[in-house]
Amino acid sequence: MNITDKTLNPDKMPRHVAVIMDGNGRWAQRQGRERTYGHQHGVEAVRSVIEGAGEMGIQYLTLYAFSTENWNRPREEVEMLMGLLVQAIHNELEGLMKNQVRLQITGRMKDLPAASRDALQDAIDRTAGNKGLTVVLALSYSGRAEIVDMVGDIAHEAAQGTLDPGQITADIVQQHLYHSEIPDPDILIRTGGDCRVSNFLLWQIAYTELFFVPTMWPDFRKEDLRDIVLDFQHRERRYGKTGEQVLEQ
Ligand code: IPE
Ligand code: IPE
Ligand code: MG
Repeated sequence: MNITDKTLNPDKMPRHVAVIMDGNGRWAQRQGRERTYGHQHGVEAVRSVIEGAGEMGIQYLTLYAFSTENWNRPREEVEMLMGLLVQAIHNELEGLMKNQVRLQITGRMKDLPAASRDALQDAIDRTAGNKGLTVVLALSYSGRAEIVDMVGDIAHEAAQGTLDPGQITADIVQQHLYHSEIPDPDILIRTGGDCRVSNFLLWQIAYTELFFVPTMWPDFRKEDLRDIVLDFQHRERRYGKTGEQVLEQ
């Protein structure tokens, strides 16, 4: 099946889609299973969405896989998730290479166990030359931590005398984020039915179009992503202007 069939407008494609992959635990519990069963099935949704994003020609896909707050979950669940990460990278690497996917990460990588860090670094290195979709995995990530790190870097440069505090602009802030080269998301999707951003990309989503969907993450597929992109293409992004001004552009 070609998922671009359903009248997607090639001139209005999002460059960057970000996803809060939520609902794994509830999906499993509804079937009387352990939460970890939901995380395992979440990998299938990740595979499908990566494929779909590549087929649609989206350039960046940022996936929120583990927040700084998620360290507060039961130890067994955290350990299982870190193990699953290594296993998933191992299993998916061939497919990523075939689809020309470049893997990146965002977050406090140093918080991760060495085995997860090593597996990630290896996958980042191996996929570095790929020319298709860039997938950014957000791990031990939080928007506030990113802002705190940015402020620390800027303060350090100001103290060193290499940055004039009077010259700080939004562009300077942007340049000190974890991935200053990546454009802000056009679309943010949260699965699982909750309508909150849970500390994801706080600076970057200032003008992002938000989509909260009831589907639990393990059930989400590339067709769902395609439907959201179609909906996005019918939204008018005004950036503070009037609708008339936007139409005149
Ligand atoms: C998202 O699913 C995955 C992670 C946060 C790691 P959850 O595990 O949060 O699932 P729910 O929200 O409890 O159903
Ligand atoms: C957000 O989901 C983080 C990820 C999907 C990785 P959570 O399940 O942790 O969010 P809250 O706690 O319900 O806000
Ligand atoms: Mg959740």
